[in-house]
Amino acid sequence: MRGAGVASEDKDAEGLLEGLSVDEARPERPVLLDAQGEPLRTWRENYPYDEKLRRKEYERRKRILQIELLKLQKSVRDQGQRIVVVCEGRDAAGKGGTIKRFTERLNPRGARIVALDKPTEREAGQWYFQRYVAELPSAGEIVFFDRSWYNRAGVEPVMGFCTPRQHEEFLQQAPLFEKMITDDGIVLVKFWFSVSRAEQRTRFAIRQVDPVRQWKLSPTDLASLDLWDAYTHAKVEMFRATDTVHAPWSVIKFNDKRRGRLEAMRHLLLRVDYESMDKDAVGEADPLIIGPADTLLE
Ligand code: ADP
Ligand code: AMP
Ligand code: MLT
Repeated sequence: MRGAGVASEDKDAEGLLEGLSVDEARPERPVLLDAQGEPLRTWRENYPYDEKLRRKEYERRKRILQIELLKLQKSVRDQGQRIVVVCEGRDAAGKGGTIKRFTERLNPRGARIVALDKPTEREAGQWYFQRYVAELPSAGEIVFFDRSWYNRAGVEPVMGFCTPRQHEEFLQQAPLFEKMITDDGIVLVKFWFSVSRAEQRTRFAIRQVDPVRQWKLSPTDLASLDLWDAYTHAKVEMFRATDTVHAPWSVIKFNDKRRGRLEAMRHLLLRVDYESMDKDAVGEADPLIIGPADTLLE
């Protein structure tokens, strides 16, 4: 169950907008103002840049990377490669929006998005990894997971949707599972989209006031407002258990979504060996924004 009805009846949801107002001058896109009438700048919290990437510059760079992604896709199809991109992070980190930009220009034949709902009763009776295995790519395919088997390292233990024993077993089994699929030749890229506490709250508040985003504000989101530390703890355990040589995590700072998205695209391009790569177009990773799990942890 999601949606405005659920959210607006909830006391936490009401509290989200306390002291804030919507900028009437920008009806095309809700912008929240603080008590002084200034736009919220929660994204600045510990962020390495003073300004967000401007839209024009973002669009320019995105197009260049999307052209490279098309070359990558062609090469994947020609050579029968299999690519899995796992997108994880807290609620509102930017997973869905990033996947959308990844696939915007790709040929849908050969690029798939997997965003599974909570397990059905039948699925709950199966081996935990089973429904994810069914979605893995065949030759020539790229599959983007908007959340993944890592639900059992985050939302499930934190919200009590699995037992502590199931959580523990997952942390043991995930590296083995990933070893099997990568040994079989699947390229596995695991992204953790990182968002600061105040910025997450701002994004929930925007979901609350923006009709085109309201569906995204779920009861799980609202619950997570009070569960920040529990999620942090779960994340640290997850990295400890599953940041392996064969399947490392890449952490991307996502308080500026545009910079984050570009960095994610670039990372995939650098990870996959594809024909006729334009090295200048791809460029180099920005170490202030993306890094291995251990360097960017807190
Ligand atoms: P999202 O952030 O992906 O839009 P939600 O915040 O509603 O969606 O839920 C987060 C994740 O928790 C989803 O992958 C959802 O399937 C999962 N989830 C929700 N309820 C349950 C449940 N009862 N058991 C297991 N997983 C659940
Ligand atoms: P997470 O989303 O769990 O990776 O965590 C975010 C943690 O890093 C929190 O402790 C944040 O306060 C901190 N942090 C601070 N600034 C940022 C930022 N710009 N991007 C991501 N995380 C940040
Ligand atoms: C999320 O990370 O919860 C969402 O997918 C955010 C988004 O892309 O809008």
